[in-house]
Amino acid sequence: MFENDPLSALEAVSAAQWLAFAPLAFQATAAMRECGVLAALDATTPSKGKSIDEVAAATGLSVYATRVLLEAGLGLHIVWRRDGYFHLGKLGRVLLHDEMTRTNFDFTRDVCYHAAAHLDESLRAGRPVGLQEIGPWATLYEGLSIMPEPARRSWHAFDHFYSDRAFPALCDRLQEDPPAKLLDVGCNDGRWAGLCLQRFPAMQLGLVDLPLQLERARDSLAAAGLAARASFHPLNLLDPGCTLPSGYDMVCMSQFLDCFADDEIVMILGKVRDALPEGGRLWILELFWDRQRFEAAALALQQTSLYFSCVANGNSQMYDSKVFLEFIKRAGLETCAVTDGIGGYHTLVQCRASVR
Ligand SMILES: C[S@@+](CC[C@H](N)C(=O)[O-])C[C@H]1O[C@@H](n2cnc3c(N)ncnc32)[C@H](O)[C@@H]1O
Repeated sequence: MFENDPLSALEAVSAAQWLAFAPLAFQATAAMRECGVLAALDATTPSKGKSIDEVAAATGLSVYATRVLLEAGLGLHIVWRRDGYFHLGKLGRVLLHDEMTRTNFDFTRDVCYHAAAHLDESLRAGRPVGLQEIGPWATLYEGLSIMPEPARRSWHAFDHFYSDRAFPALCDRLQEDPPAKLLDVGCNDGRWAGLCLQRFPAMQLGLVDLPLQLERARDSLAAAGLAARASFHPLNLLDPGCTLPSGYDMVCMSQFLDCFADDEIVMILGKVRDALPEGGRLWILELFWDRQRFEAAALALQQTSLYFSCVANGNSQMYDSKVFLEFIKRAGLETCAVTDGIGGYHTLVQCRASVR
């Protein structure tokens, strides 16, 4: 992937116009979805299509609004037109029905859209200048549990869409040799911890996150009647004086290390190494753009990196695995196995604390 220039000169000119008008195209697409234009065309018999007046009547939009949206949709190949009748194209169907697309779309609209106007400044400053569009925090993680809607809902839907598919597959792998005591670092609302506590009745589980997220995890495990075998460790891993609790024979980190810059990752992995007993296991579940099967998935991850730049913290990203695996070496941990395709898109990196 990405080893040559795939575009003809003409395709390059077209692609450049998509980018030049990308914010308008994005908002037009959102409006077509939200105002029911796509749904109105979806409801029609494929061979018939609908006129502008019929779509206007079905959606309650004015004829003018319907016309500009449908005409914008033609150039974007969301809809197509024959004899004055509009039809939903394949792209329109994906936008309307594909859950991953809806989740990515809502995340971009509700969390990233306004902040993205500050990308240039964020990259120059090395901090998420766009975050001011959502709340007054230094990093998004401070506001994750309290940020306003719809950003909060769309952020969590985005995060969960991917990890929820990977967690059952991870549990199946853990079944082969479950640890007695597992530490979930960056547990967020405790979903993975809850699943482990359900699947492994003898397992003791430690949860680490920033205090606000950890409170949510505690509440959700308590509500599920699973808190008795759980311990809660509110920690800011970026605090140089903070150490991870010892006594756990395995540490898991899912979609966690991508929240940090290169040297921060090495520092956090050093804390893991110090907390693990000799031969203790570390499982890292991450999404790497260079290990995806499809270019669309790689593109989604490469663009998600920009969310980290302008919204989340200004210095992290979805990594190229070749860059990331070096951090593990630098931290004095040993990579034993790298398995792609966990839950579809994730890579499981299994490490051991080397003999000291
Ligand atoms: C992207 S979420 C991943 C959540 C979950 N593990 C999953 O796979 O869905 C990253 C988590 O790391 C936590 N986090 C970010 N910075 C942190 C820090 N400095 N110390 C501790 N936790 C942090 C966030 O609060 C958030 O819950």
